[in-house]
Amino acid sequence: MTITYIKCAAQVITVKGGSQPRRSEEMSDLGIIENGSVLVKNRRIVFVGPDVKAQEYLEHIHEPINIIDAEGKIVTPGLIDPHTHLVFGGSREKELEMRLNGAKYIDILKAGGGILQTTVSTRQATEEELIKQSTKRLNKFLQYGVTTVEAKSGYGLNLKDEIKQLKVAKKLNEQHPVDVVSTFMGAHAVPVEYKGNEDEFVRFVIEEMIPIVAKEELAEFCDVFCEEGVFTVEQSDRILQAGKAYGLKPKIHADEIVSFGGAELAAKVGAVSADHLLKASDQGIKQMAESGVIAVLLPGTAFFLMEEPARARKMIEAGVPVALSTDRNPGSSPTESLPFIMNLACLTMKMTPAEVLTACTINAAHAICKGDQIGSIEVGKKADLVLFDAPNYQTLQYNYAVNLVDTVLKDGKVVVE
Ligand code: NIG
Ligand code: FE
Repeated sequence: MTITYIKCAAQVITVKGGSQPRRSEEMSDLGIIENGSVLVKNRRIVFVGPDVKAQEYLEHIHEPINIIDAEGKIVTPGLIDPHTHLVFGGSREKELEMRLNGAKYIDILKAGGGILQTTVSTRQATEEELIKQSTKRLNKFLQYGVTTVEAKSGYGLNLKDEIKQLKVAKKLNEQHPVDVVSTFMGAHAVPVEYKGNEDEFVRFVIEEMIPIVAKEELAEFCDVFCEEGVFTVEQSDRILQAGKAYGLKPKIHADEIVSFGGAELAAKVGAVSADHLLKASDQGIKQMAESGVIAVLLPGTAFFLMEEPARARKMIEAGVPVALSTDRNPGSSPTESLPFIMNLACLTMKMTPAEVLTACTINAAHAICKGDQIGSIEVGKKADLVLFDAPNYQTLQYNYAVNLVDTVLKDGKVVVE
């Protein structure tokens, strides 16, 4: 059994770990080891510490050693993206010109475009086509140092095509080095065939979709787009409670466009995360902190929709654990560059470089309930690791919109070099 020796990095950013997401000042505590090394065996981290100690460890080892020289670089946990709409057909580039001419994102949806347009192309696409297109996206994620993504359904909006999307995500998880964690989001929009009959669609999601998705073990989470003109707080509540009854953990697209009570609902249902939150109320933020709901913030979406981003500082100060994500989707955030999202988190939401790294590693891991397996460099955890060509972690946010990824290890194997 070969041992991989990531040798003497300028900084190993362990991010420590822990059974709970990190909040307030804890988010700034990165557990940095200067001149640090990491040893990997059998897909797991077996040592992390100062290089001198790694050398002592290796003196007692007789296995072959594969050395990766990390001099002048930093090592971080593999980045985690806890909110994507990875699997979809078609594209929507015409929306940018519409929005530049004054159309609003939500009005494009209400007029039958947006999510509903992607629903048409996703329904038309075969499983093979969706796998091919989504694989390209996962390849890009990996190039940006992302080793795990969450992926939502929600462009099928009928039983057959929601299941098709979830099956594609499952296959991608099996085939691709990036781990894919699935979320059922049948309540992403009301499909045209239910227009004017929204409650009937909610009933369909609750009684006919959720039980089958749960029975076939196609998803771990249930999400809903709780927004004015999409699903009301009351409908979202019923959907998330139904999901919970079938073992699907709640997540919620909350307060993205108007202040709507989504953050409050997240606290009430005990959601794992509430995402977007551009317009979350003070009361909602307070309740999220009290219930331990993770805020998954998506500054790329705010940037791309030309809106004010979420109040990250207010949330961190209130004690809400914050994670970050691309929200990769064809309408409001067509990018796989989580590193650029990290830049935006600093520059538009005033998060510090340390908070941003915590948000994309251990807090993102907790946002998909994987904090015990990934998200920090600790003995026993999966060897998902990134070497960045940067002498310290601040440089990741200072050299913005460039890809500093040098090497990526997934499950202990070099997948980008
Ligand atoms: O998270 N806001 C709702 N859903 C997605 C966008 C989906 C789309 O436009 O296709 C989001 O931004
Ligand atoms: Fe989203």
